Amino acid sequence: MAATIKTADELEKMRIAGRLAADVLEMIAPHVVKGVTTDELDRICHEYMVNVQQAIPAPLNYHGFPKSICTSINNVICHGIPSNKKLKDGDIINIDITVIKDGYHGDTSKMFTIGKTPIRAERLCKLTQEALYLGMEQVKPGATLGDIGHAIESFANKYNLSVVREYCGHGIGKVFHEEPQVVHYGHQGTGMKLTEGMCFTIEPMLNLGKRHSKLLQDGWTVVTKDRSLSAQWEHTLAVTADGFEVFTARSDEPWFKQA
Ligand code: MF3
Ligand code: CO
Ligand code: CO
Repeated sequence: MAATIKTADELEKMRIAGRLAADVLEMIAPHVVKGVTTDELDRICHEYMVNVQQAIPAPLNYHGFPKSICTSINNVICHGIPSNKKLKDGDIINIDITVIKDGYHGDTSKMFTIGKTPIRAERLCKLTQEALYLGMEQVKPGATLGDIGHAIESFANKYNLSVVREYCGHGIGKVFHEEPQVVHYGHQGTGMKLTEGMCFTIEPMLNLGKRHSKLLQDGWTVVTKDRSLSAQWEHTLAVTADGFEVFTARSDEPWFKQA
């Protein structure tokens, strides 16, 4: 159980990759509307990453994943495959973007709502974002992975939301998914101690119903077993001398720095 510590040079590359991934989410936002297919969103993102950013969409062909982004609608927890299905009024959708630039990965996702969404769906999306932020705020040298998981789990419990356990955040760098595993539940003061230069994602998946998941026949799509709605938000961050740096901050977030 070891985490790689990034050099200043590597952190700069993570900064660039993270910024590009965040830019894709900002670019795609106006296209995420009723009637658009997730294939169309995939195509627009793919072309932007490849042609504008000159970056590589990490999901494409990753362990055989067939598309360049993940699109997870309503009861889909994560790893939804873009298809010819159209977004409809009231849907919630997670778009998960991972780019590789100069050999390093930036990984981030957020929820979008389509038209008039039910209040409980809106609330799930908002609270899951808040859960991510609470997890991130634990990050500093000397804190533990358990502190992150505990912050997320206790917040979710307070609002009667369940935390998916089968999928987690991860170390990231030259490798898409590396050690450590960053689970979104746990106990304060347990697990790996965080040290300066570690880079990982936090990406809580919270459900309105029970926490249990099911993998569909396509080998990728993960859904809630009870068909309840699920939401996820993700950032890539580094442990700094006195806290954390968010590589994938968007312009509407407090950690955003003008390039
Ligand atoms: N981006 C996802 C994550 O947050 C992983 C997607 S892997 C894929 O870790 F193959 F489904 F694209
Ligand atoms: Co990730
Ligand atoms: Co991701």
